[in-house]
Amino acid sequence: MKKLKLALMGFGNVGQAFAEMLLEKHDEIVEKYERDVIVTVITTATKGKMYDPQGIDLVKTLKDLEKTGKFDENSVTDVIEEKLLAEADYDCLMELTPLDIFTGQPATDHIRCALGRGKHAITANKGPVAWYFSELRDLAESKRVGFFYETVVMDGTPVFNLVEHTLKMAKVTEVAGILNSTTNFILEEMEKGCAMDDIMDRGRKMGFIEADPAMDIEGYDAAGKVTALLNVLMDAGITPDQVDRKGIEDITIEDINDAKTRGNVIKLLCRGTFDENGNVIATVRPEEVPKTDMLASVNSTTSVISITTDLMKKNSIVEHEPEIAQTAYGVFGDMLRVIELES
Ligand SMILES: NC(=O)c1ccc[n+]([C@@H]2O[C@H](COP(=O)([O-])OP(=O)(O)OC[C@H]3O[C@@H](n4cnc5c(N)ncnc54)[C@H](OP(=O)(O)O)[C@@H]3O)[C@@H](O)[C@H]2O)c1
Repeated sequence: MKKLKLALMGFGNVGQAFAEMLLEKHDEIVEKYERDVIVTVITTATKGKMYDPQGIDLVKTLKDLEKTGKFDENSVTDVIEEKLLAEADYDCLMELTPLDIFTGQPATDHIRCALGRGKHAITANKGPVAWYFSELRDLAESKRVGFFYETVVMDGTPVFNLVEHTLKMAKVTEVAGILNSTTNFILEEMEKGCAMDDIMDRGRKMGFIEADPAMDIEGYDAAGKVTALLNVLMDAGITPDQVDRKGIEDITIEDINDAKTRGNVIKLLCRGTFDENGNVIATVRPEEVPKTDMLASVNSTTSVISITTDLMKKNSIVEHEPEIAQTAYGVFGDMLRVIELES
């Protein structure tokens, strides 16, 4: 049976959840697509790297990690990451390393290398799509391979797939949404009257507020997401530093109460539209939203995107309180697209 060999760059939350999903669905994939999916490369920053052209034992790898926090030392390789990327036997790279929203690196170089070798690439990391989308898309096209990135905005929720496959020939004219859970949660809790220290403590315990939440609070994460969206859906050709960005760092309880007296709530909104010259303008800023508006009901870790097109007006898609499996499904779904491309 034909194989699909995967290289996983990064094996943290998303990589491990993807490996579990792959194990769960492996036999079904074989039955439906007649394709044996194996993982030949896994790299991490501190846990070690593994390379086995015959396929890494994922069950054992996950067990080893659970027990010791590392890979079995008999299975690890000393071959450096660059060499694995450039020479190892794989068909599809999965870029699952941490985001650097200011550069999109080293993830972009990982993807460049794989695409340059004529390998498919899938990324959950939004950096490459926010900083280098058109270059990577064109490289993939020239090499006749797939470059997929569904996970970079709203996890596995079909946003890019929705537009590509179900809104054919409809031109996207505007995108708007609430895309950052941390700020959404903080604003909602402030409105309930909770103290900031308590909000941050609970958010950290629930696992979605980072030790240093500045990337979220100052709107960098949202700027990265809206840039990725606009580059793909509106061919914006922009980078995150071109977003007119303001986070929620200066929002006070008084602002929230004032908004309340006007029947409004404050939300951190991302937007992209065309200006009169046909250029895409992107903004991230806190805005007052009427309590009756659908956006006002989007709370906690729920996200929403509204996509306006010339032919289908405005459609909105909501992702309700995702967990890590929904992120894993994003890259899993992209992997199925790679299998379909090769069939
Ligand atoms: N978590 C989510 O819900 C979610 C949702 C959407 C998108 N994403 C994106 O998905 C990506 C992965 O997220 P995650 O939550 O899985 O992150 P994570 O838990 O921090 O895992 C990152 C993994 O990458 C490894 N790594 C770091 N630098 C590397 C390098 N230069 N080369 C190879 N491996 C490297 C880390 O090694 P160690 O294991 O040694 O630390 C770790 O295994 C990020 O870009 C994130 O923004 C995540």
